[in-house]
Amino acid sequence: MVSVELDNVGHAFNERTQLFHGISLTLLPERVYALVGPSGSGKSTLLSIIAGWQQPSTGKVVRHGICKTSWVFQNPIGVARRTALDHVALPYLGQGYAAADAERLAREQLERFGLGDAADKRFGELSGGEAQRLMLARGVASNADLLLVDEPTAQLDMRTADAVDQYLGALSRSGTIVVVATHDHRTRDAATDVIDLERYQ
Ligand SMILES: Nc1ncnc2c1ncn2[C@@H]1O[C@H](COP(=O)(O)OP(=O)(O)OP(=O)(O)O)[C@@H](O)[C@H]1O
Ligand SMILES: [Mg+2]
Repeated sequence: MVSVELDNVGHAFNERTQLFHGISLTLLPERVYALVGPSGSGKSTLLSIIAGWQQPSTGKVVRHGICKTSWVFQNPIGVARRTALDHVALPYLGQGYAAADAERLAREQLERFGLGDAADKRFGELSGGEAQRLMLARGVASNADLLLVDEPTAQLDMRTADAVDQYLGALSRSGTIVVVATHDHRTRDAATDVIDLERYQ
């Protein structure tokens, strides 16, 4: 069974910044976890602990059957001169798809995120919201078992944000564990579970 088990997880960067403590829960596929809490409460930090990129100062995280983790960052990072299509085709090429198939799959993924018309634009020409959706499309293209998403709807209008929420739900139902750090109450409402860091302060 694929899962991520958090056992009494707590973190402090130093004695003045105790972020959270005592988080014990099991993250499962087919669920979308909304990770909420005020700015600075440690959402991004907890995502990186769940990913295994950072050790918690107390407790432990055990990943069962997670082969691949994908992270969609809070701030879009891409290669300015490369097209949107290139960014999404790359993970498919990495999975061994032939160039034509990688491109076809990447175009499908871009369509899903409302970026069909932006496929051939360079990353540097995208708007903030387009760049953010591109990061999501790329994250999804990596076919991870665990998808961590940091503030996916921060720069999106209501309709686009809604589409992103729906898509994250669909993705989880296909077997991915999805954890979304968010300030957006609609994303929170669309999730199956809520992890509120205020409860662990
Ligand atoms: N490497 C680090 N060293 C020391 N302090 C850090 C480090 N990384 C983050 N912090 C601090 O830890 C706190 C939590 O940061 P984090 O980015 O996890 O919050 P967040 O809940 O994601 O906030 P936001 O909603 O603004 O994205 C902040 O006060 C931040 O300054
Ligand atoms: Mg953050």
